[in-house]
Amino acid sequence: MMRKILFIAATAIVSLAALAGCDSTPASKPLDQLTAQESHGREIFMARCSACHFDRSSQALQGPALKGVFKKQYLPSGAPANDDRVTATILHGRTMMPPQGDIAPQDLSDLLAYMHSL
Ligand code: HEC
Repeated sequence: MMRKILFIAATAIVSLAALAGCDSTPASKPLDQLTAQESHGREIFMARCSACHFDRSSQALQGPALKGVFKKQYLPSGAPANDDRVTATILHGRTMMPPQGDIAPQDLSDLLAYMHSL
């Protein structure tokens, strides 16, 4: 009986933590602490990526959540989470993700800087 109650209590706590948005990914850098480069990168993200990806939530949208993308070892596909792989994804696209080869080099590096802050 006691074990059952403990189990129910533990389940409730885990569900509440999930509802509160707690997950294993470390917190993103607060918006008011972004550098000028990261802030510009955020504008690029909003213009080019936010229709399909959340940056500050672990929920999938059209594509997987990008919160903590560089804090994890692997991208959702299993490729290593590094600048080269993410750049290739942006420039060449991936299945349902359209290629964005028209992005200016400075915009790309600012975007990557923002993604590192997530
Ligand atoms: C039209 C919707 C769409 C847009 C716009 C979009 N993506 Fe994606 N993205 C996707 C989808 C869908 C996937 C999942 C692709 C798959 O692996 O099947 C994805 C996957 C990814 C991945 C994971 C790749 C991997 O190897 O797992 C990254 C990183 C990513 N997108 C970054 C971006 C960035 C940065 C932008 C903005 C420059 C962007 N995406 C714009 C739809 C989009």
